[in-house]
Amino acid sequence: MPIVCKSAPEIEKMRRSGRIVRQVLDELSAMVAPGVSTMDLERAAEASIRRLGARPAFKGYFDYPCVLCTSLNEEIVHGIPSERRVLKQGEIVSIDCGVVLDGYYADAAVTLPVGNHLKPEVARLVEVTKSSLDRAIQVARIGNTLGDVGAAVQELVEANGFSVVREFVGHGIGTRLHEDPQVPNYGTRGHGARLREGMVLAIEPMVNAGKPGARVLPDKWTAVTEDGSYSAHFEHCVAITTDGPQVLTA
Ligand code: MF3
Ligand code: CO
Repeated sequence: MPIVCKSAPEIEKMRRSGRIVRQVLDELSAMVAPGVSTMDLERAAEASIRRLGARPAFKGYFDYPCVLCTSLNEEIVHGIPSERRVLKQGEIVSIDCGVVLDGYYADAAVTLPVGNHLKPEVARLVEVTKSSLDRAIQVARIGNTLGDVGAAVQELVEANGFSVVREFVGHGIGTRLHEDPQVPNYGTRGHGARLREGMVLAIEPMVNAGKPGARVLPDKWTAVTEDGSYSAHFEHCVAITTDGPQVLTA
């Protein structure tokens, strides 16, 4: 499929969707604590998405059953909320949420500590992953390439001794949750499709503390690290504009 560029009014609509995603993620972030189950987060998210007048983007996408993906520790992405997954001190949880409002999608994720003392190595994994997204956003400019975006993530991650997941990538987003182009978190500067005005990209680095390998559990959704190492994930929707990158999920 061709890459669909968005007009300024369309980007404004996506910003409205993005604000709702951010509001939901902020509410959930305040809830994250030992003893809370990932299903508690799911219920709060669904109530809050509907209260804000949007619809969840993930529930019913293929056969995905929930409005959130909640991925703990060695889970990379697409963990399914469950009453039985109760958060514990020292764990990390990635919360990924998407909504659709007035026909336009937004999608964002954060990785949060549970409680207040992460092992230093785990805290560093989370910080580096977040910084890698910030770096990628900084190069998401007209005339740069998808390779520049991927390289920005990969160079920082690998310089810190961590690794980038290859099996899952970011994506274009707009009137569908997943549009072209694919947005890998690895690449070579100057290579790949050139960024043009009006593209909107969901940039979402997935970073493993150990080796890059991933596999999917028998539930057909939950992606985990092959080596059992912890993994972190952050995501923003970013519009490529003449004023530079604009984060729609800020
Ligand atoms: N942020 C993820 C993505 O963009 C979440 C998708 S979950 C799904 O791929 F259920 F909708 F697939
Ligand atoms: Co996404």
